[in-house]
Parts: sequence; structure tokens; C-alpha cells
Amino acid sequence: MKIQSIRGVKDILPGEIEKWQWVEEIARNVFSKYGFKEIRIPIFEKTKLFSKSIGETTDIVEKEMYTFTDRSGEQITLRPEGTASVVRAYIEHKMYNPPSVVKLYYMGPMFRYERPQAGRFRQFYQIGIEAMGTDNPMVDVEVMTLLMEFFRLLGLTGLELEINSLGCADCRPKYRETLKEAISDHLDELCQNCNHRYERNPLRVLDCKVERDREIAKELPKTKDHLCESCQTNFDQVQTLLDSTQTPYSLNSMLVRGLDYYTRTTFEVVSTGLGAQNAICGGGRYDSLVEEFEGPPTPCFGFALGMERLISVIPFGDKKDLESRPDIFVVGLGEEAKFVTFKIIHELRRDGFSVDQDYAGGSMKSQMRKANKSASRFSLIVGENEIKSGKYLLKDMETGSQNEIPATDLINSIKKQLAHPSSSSRA
Ligand code: HAM
Repeated sequence: MKIQSIRGVKDILPGEIEKWQWVEEIARNVFSKYGFKEIRIPIFEKTKLFSKSIGETTDIVEKEMYTFTDRSGEQITLRPEGTASVVRAYIEHKMYNPPSVVKLYYMGPMFRYERPQAGRFRQFYQIGIEAMGTDNPMVDVEVMTLLMEFFRLLGLTGLELEINSLGCADCRPKYRETLKEAISDHLDELCQNCNHRYERNPLRVLDCKVERDREIAKELPKTKDHLCESCQTNFDQVQTLLDSTQTPYSLNSMLVRGLDYYTRTTFEVVSTGLGAQNAICGGGRYDSLVEEFEGPPTPCFGFALGMERLISVIPFGDKKDLESRPDIFVVGLGEEAKFVTFKIIHELRRDGFSVDQDYAGGSMKSQMRKANKSASRFSLIVGENEIKSGKYLLKDMETGSQNEIPATDLINSIKKQLAHPSSSSRA
């Protein structure tokens, strides 16, 4: 019986995974410089956590969650995003004690039952950040500049940072009513989806993808013109701080995001190199979510980026150093050599070298072909003659030069010849 993977879900194979590891390593380095620490959150949670935080009327909750009843009758959902779980963990572990700004990051798979297409999967990976415990606009800008710095280190170009403000619990309900009223004049021109949104989530009409609706949306009232004084001041400060860091950005008053928990600053980073699914990253402020889950008042700011989309726009070019290659390929010739090389390989690895071999053995020619294919830095040749003489052959695979090295002082001799950048850690 042949079983294939599920639609919208993919394997990340060796050859590709090195790129992911490289990105993840740079992320960890950058995030820790800004004081962020990793949190591992569960893959599944109680359904209510997501439906309440993301919003009952969002596409994610209405159509996209992988929800099931477990054997004890509990409603469980595979996490469609990470913010809700981080908020749950923050409250559950009283991370607000002692009061301070808690800076967390996470990496891992998310699940949404979306229609698969280029850049859109049903299991996809996110790297996310949440800064919890302050409404200082400096944090908004610090997190956005962290992100842009991360992208710079990855060698990315052609990215655009778009920002907007969605207002707060004071000004948004009034704006929502103004917007609804304006939409009501266009209901028969708008798509069926937008008619549905009008009733339940009118802000989402602003980012409908239907061309005709987009034209109408352009003329609808925007949040930026309906912010209360405090939200306006806050948004002005965000822009002044962004300017001070010389981070390019543009204002996008249609940016409303697909999750309901946002307040004030929202943002997305889009890539000009991607098609329809061009958002690499999205995030913003969510100042009341922790309180909604019975935690103390805790304003927060965060983002999540989509790994598949990010990887697809990184100019990897000829990054050969991303490919994992062994330091040494051990070539054993003859029956006796098998046992000798087995022991040598064990010792070399214990000493920190990465070592490969051809388990099938075979002729010198065929083993050297495998050594070449492995792109190892050196090959170590051990045949009957070498065992008798107590001297093995170490071949530099780049220059082709060969050296005899004594079996009794194998590790040290190899260390001397292997000008390895991290050889000091192998002592
Ligand atoms: P989001 O905009 O839903 O935000 O997702 C963030 C990113 O995940 C998107 O920009 C996109 O790159 C990627 N993504 C989303 N869905 C898919 C998919 N089906 N296939 C591939 N990539 C996808 C959030 O998830 C929020 N939790 C972000 C956040 C954190 N806001 C505050 N803190």
C-alpha cells in the first residue's frame, strides 16, 4: 500500500533543511541580542483558546482550524498560530511576576485548513516574537527594526514594511459603526463574502482580494482618520521612532490583519518577489488579550513570519557552506581493515570530527568515488599495507596531495593537518 503525504503538507529534506537551520540560527542570534528568550508551546490546545483570541468571525476560526474531539471528549485544535498559546503560557506560569517586559520567541509548525497554493500550506512553519508587558511605542519600533535587521542579515532585498493603526477599545467601536454605515451603501456591489463580513467583521471588507471590492474599499473610511487622540499620538510616535532608525516603511490604511486581537500598530512585511501570497510576516500590538484571558493588564507587541515564504525569497545562490560535508571520509580496503576503520571512525567522531564511510566497502576506486561525492575535506585510506606498516594515508581532497600519518598518533596528526576553524574545541 502506497501512502502519500497529506495535501498542503510537505517534507523538508536534507539539502533543503540546511537552509532552514541557517535561518533559524541567525534568528536565534539576533533575537538573543535583543533580549528575547525561546519558549516552546504545545502543538495543540483547547479550541476555546484560539476561537476566543483569534476571533469567532475570522476566516481562521470559521473555516481553517483543525479541530477534533479527543478520547475524553475535550475539543482540541492544532495551533493555527502561536500568540494565543504564548498568552496562555504567560498567564498560566505567572510570567508577569516580578513585573517586567517578558520577551519571548518561538519556532515551529502551525496548521490551517487553507486552499494550498504557492506559498500557502496546511502545515507551515512560523518564527514568532512576543514582547509582553509594555505599551511603549519604542517596543513596537524595536521589534520591527529587529525584524528588518534579521532580514538584512539573511541578504534579503525587495521587502516592504507596511504599517497601520487599528485604534483601541475607545475609538474602534465608533469607527466600526462609521465603516458599517459606509459599507451599507455598497452591499449589492460587494462580494458575498463581504456581505457576510459586513455583519460580523466589517473591518475585513477593507482587505478583500476581489478587484471590484478593492475599488470600493479604497473609498471607505479608514481607521487612520478615526483614531482617538491617544492612539493618534501613539501612532505619530511610532512613525517618528521608525524615522529615527532610518527604517523605510509605508502607511497602508487597508491593512487590518486577519486576527481580531490587534489594537493600535499593525504591520506586515511583503516581498515584491512573491505572487499572491506575498506577506512574509505580520504582526502588531494586542493590548487587551492577556486581560481577556483573566491575566493582569499586559500590553503586548509581536509578529510571526512564514518560514516557507521567507526561505523562498532568500538569495542562497551558491552558498556551498550550507551543505553539511564530512571532515573525513574513511576508506577501508580488505576484510581486516573493516574492523580497524570501524574503531578509527568511532574515535574520530568522539574527538569531534564529522566522518563518513562507504558501508558497502568495495574497491578503492568505488570508495574514492563516494568520498568525492560526499565532498569530504579529507579521505583517510586504510588498507592491508597501511595496517602492516602502521601508517595510514591522509588525502587532501581539494589539492589531491597525500601524507602518511602514524596510526599511533592518528588524532593529533589529523588535527595538525586539518586546518579546521573550530579545531580548538576538539581538544
Ligand atoms: P499571520 O499573519 O496569520 O499572523 O501569520 C504570519 C505569517 O505566517 C504570514 O505573514 C505568512 O508568512 C505565514 N502564513 C500564514 N498562513 C500561512 C499558510 N497557510 N502557509 C504558509 N505561510 C503562512 C499570525 O499568525 C500572528 N500570530 C502574528 C503575531 C504574533 N501577531 C502578534 N504576535
